[in-house]
Formats: sequence, structure tokens, C-alpha cells
Amino acid sequence: MSASQPVTDRVRVRAPGKVNLALRVGAVREDGYHPLATVFQALSIFDELGAHPAAAGRYDIRVAGDQAHLVPADDSNLAVRAARLLASRHGGEARYGVDLRIRKTIPVTGGMAGGSANAAAALVGCAALWGIDINPDELRELGAELGADVPFCLLGSTALGHGRGDDLVPVLSRGGYHWVLALPDVELSTAAVFRRFDDMNPDADPTPPPVPSGLLEGLASGDVRRVAENLVNDLEPAAVSLRPHLAELLDAGRDAGALAGIVSGSGPTCAFLTANEDAAVRLSGVLSGLGLCRQVRRACGPVPGARQVA
Ligand code: C5P
Repeated sequence: MSASQPVTDRVRVRAPGKVNLALRVGAVREDGYHPLATVFQALSIFDELGAHPAAAGRYDIRVAGDQAHLVPADDSNLAVRAARLLASRHGGEARYGVDLRIRKTIPVTGGMAGGSANAAAALVGCAALWGIDINPDELRELGAELGADVPFCLLGSTALGHGRGDDLVPVLSRGGYHWVLALPDVELSTAAVFRRFDDMNPDADPTPPPVPSGLLEGLASGDVRRVAENLVNDLEPAAVSLRPHLAELLDAGRDAGALAGIVSGSGPTCAFLTANEDAAVRLSGVLSGLGLCRQVRRACGPVPGARQVA
């Protein structure tokens, strides 16, 4: 098949990071993945991706941002793999090309699905650049081939996830939630945290525990305190055991007025839920002053999934 001309000059896409309001984990499966029961919320911490035209067969990538040096700028990058996967399902990789430029603000290997957000953005961006008409279900299926969190980064808002976390149903959620994120100066590999979970839970049940019903009720009624009381992360003990400093950070945030604090996903980012925007501003000030982490950021949720913005 001949090379396809891009249908537009350049596409810009914004994709959010996430926090797991509940992350319940079952025993490891034969395929190495863990069955999950999880509630995701997409947060207003975004990576931006530009998809620029390139010669057919070329898949290039550049990454900017203060943690760019931690991100592979080659074929192993999940965004490049996403672009190639989309092309291969729609006429072949040799038919299309793209020059991807990513500006990262989601913490890298931080437990907020930054790599998955970039893959989601690449799928949306390349489909628009190449004029591929693809429906949201097909996009999510491609996303699931790339990583367990990619379908949620496409969907956004608030969703219940089962299976590897990629079998999604939207969750009714009222109101906005104000978070303070503490970004420690360490990285954590998701796979290593799951392995530590296995070591610490040799008798884990093949079926994950259910997400707390109080969490879903709190979200449905917009009751931030009820939500805070029901935040749960089964990976937190594993993340803290690999990075003991996280326990101190979590205590500091709780002592400084957070309604609740949890490790985000597999960590090491710690996410503190606050009563309102003023409380979030105060908490971020106190946490910044303590000097326990690399950076303190505020974020709101829920927000939409990966979207074209230009
Ligand atoms: O799917 P993704 O590549 O994002 O997952 C990274 C790693 O996290 C997997 O290789 C696996 O070790 C672990 N994982 C898991 N169970 C899940 C999701 C991820 O064990 N449900």
C-alpha cells in the first residue's frame, strides 16, 4: 500500500494523570498480571503531546520537561509503540510516519500513569493526524494492548476497573476533589511493587477484595469526607516497604491537615485529599516548607481523558 499523506499539519493532545481512590489487589495470575478492583480518578496534571507529520516509515520522538532524561526517547517509548500499533492495524507502519513531541509534567515512574497517558495521547493524536476514523471502543482495545492503565487515560473522569484495571465502567461522581501531590525524589518500578506485594501476601485470594461501597456512595453524593474515609491502596505497604521514607511523608501530610493521604497507584507519589481549595493551598504550603520531597503540586479531579486541544 502507498504512503498516506497526513490530513492535517500538526495535532496537539492533552492527557491526564490519575490517582487510584481504591486499589484492591488479588493473587498474581499466570500471565504475571494481578487481578484488580480499582476506582480511578483522572487529575488535572497533564502531559501534552504534539503529533507532527513525518516521512512514511519514520517514528521519531522528543521529550521535554524537568524529568525528560528519565524517559526513553526511542522505539521503547510507549507513545512510539502506540503510534506503530495504530499504524499496523490501519494499513501498515510503512504507510504512515509521525514526529512525536511530548512535554511531561506528570511525574515519571510516579504511580500516576504518565507513560500510559502518553500512549493514550499518541493514539488520539496519530488517529487525527493520519485521518483514521476510529471509535472509542477500538481505541480502548488498542490501549489495553499497550498497558493496563491506557484505557483509563483515554476514558478519564472516574471509573471502576476490573481485570488488569482495563475493564472499565464509568462511576457516578459529583463535585470536584482538591488534591495535594507530594513527589518524592525517588522512583519506583510498578513491576517491583507488585512483586513486593506478592512477597508480603503469599496467601492473597485470586479474587481481589471489593472496592469499599462507602467510596462509591461518597462519590455519588459528592461527600469528600466519606470519600476520604474510604480511600484504600493494597499496594501501599509494598511501596512503603521499598521506600520507607514514604511513611514519614504520609504522616506529615495527614498531620498538616489532609483529610486522608495515600500512595498513588504503585507510588512513590503521595496523594492527599483535602476538604476544599483553601485547605489544599494551605497544605501544599506546609508540605513544601518541610522539604521532605522533590516537589509539591496541587491538582483537581475528575477531569476528562486524552483530548485533542489543537
Ligand atoms: O500494563 P503495564 O505495562 O502498565 O504494567 C506494568 C507492570 O505492572 C506489569 O508488567 C506487571 O508487572 C504489573 N501489573 C500487574 N498487574 C496489573 C497491572 C500491572 O502485575 N493489573
